Amino acid sequence: MSTIIVAGATNQIGHFLLSKLPKLIAISRQARPNTGNITWLKIDLATGILPIKTPSKLFYSAPLSLLPPLLARLPQITLLNQVVVFSSTSCFTKENSTDLKEQTIANQLAQAEKALIKECQRRNITWTILRPTLVYGCGLDKNVTFIASFIKKFGFFPIVGQGIGLRQPVHADDLATACIQAASSPKTANKTYNLTGGQTLCYRDMVITIFKFLGKKPHIISVPLPLFTTMLRCITWLPKYSHLSTAMVNRINQDLCFDSTAAQHDFGYQPRKFVDLGL
Ligand SMILES: NC(=O)c1ccc[n+]([C@@H]2O[C@H](COP(=O)([O-])OP(=O)(O)OC[C@H]3O[C@@H](n4cnc5c(N)ncnc54)[C@H](OP(=O)(O)O)[C@@H]3O)[C@@H](O)[C@H]2O)c1
Repeated sequence: MSTIIVAGATNQIGHFLLSKLPKLIAISRQARPNTGNITWLKIDLATGILPIKTPSKLFYSAPLSLLPPLLARLPQITLLNQVVVFSSTSCFTKENSTDLKEQTIANQLAQAEKALIKECQRRNITWTILRPTLVYGCGLDKNVTFIASFIKKFGFFPIVGQGIGLRQPVHADDLATACIQAASSPKTANKTYNLTGGQTLCYRDMVITIFKFLGKKPHIISVPLPLFTTMLRCITWLPKYSHLSTAMVNRINQDLCFDSTAAQHDFGYQPRKFVDLGL
């Protein structure tokens, strides 16, 4: 039996992974008390060393750029034999963004994936990269949870144009299951998978579903882009809204769709529809 190490243990995927694994080592920058199945270690992945003492698997959903140097700090011969890593389909959807910051994120993700593969090949570690789309599920995300808290506060939600861009929101619980399934299927060795949610719906319908989940009558206001851009300039200095950008808002009418068929075939990936919003 391998030791399972979970890095990114405090995010939404980690939240569900921790409840599914019988025994694991969880890594975070803050110390936390151990519980029945979890040994918490306080490690900064930017500078620390992974605690590999027995044959181990790493489930990684922390910032991807920290992983290749983290692996490079392991001895050449290591007992870490497998990594299952979360990247993001943003490496495609933000590649040609009008926002330079987003382009940089996309480039960094692509570079980090390449560097990860190289480090794994050097150390003979089996790798699998999972690229989710829009993640939700336990109130820790900045998409669905942001929309829900805006609706709760203001009673309406503004969108640019008609909000016709297609989305495939994916539940973090399904990603945690996918991670465990991918780790136990030999077919996933040294492969990359895009992981979508089980339902494709347009941005507007996603917002309507959130209204309904909150027990509220949908009240969506369509705002022209120039007005929206001005509104954004006025609010993005507030920390709560600092993640919003014109490029992000522009994408509301663009399709961000991927195909998870390979994941279905190789490890039985079966994501749920856009329900159980975890709000
Ligand atoms: N959110 C989305 O909609 C979305 C979409 C597509 C893909 N993804 C991918 O899904 C994964 C999870 O994303 P997320 O948004 O749910 O979570 P996130 O906010 O990116 O999670 C960050 C996690 O990394 C840990 N972390 C960060 N820096 C660290 C460091 N220096 N040392 C140790 N731990 C560190 C944090 O732990 P502590 O703060 O406790 O140290 C936290 O658990 C990522 O790979 C992301 O690219 C997310």
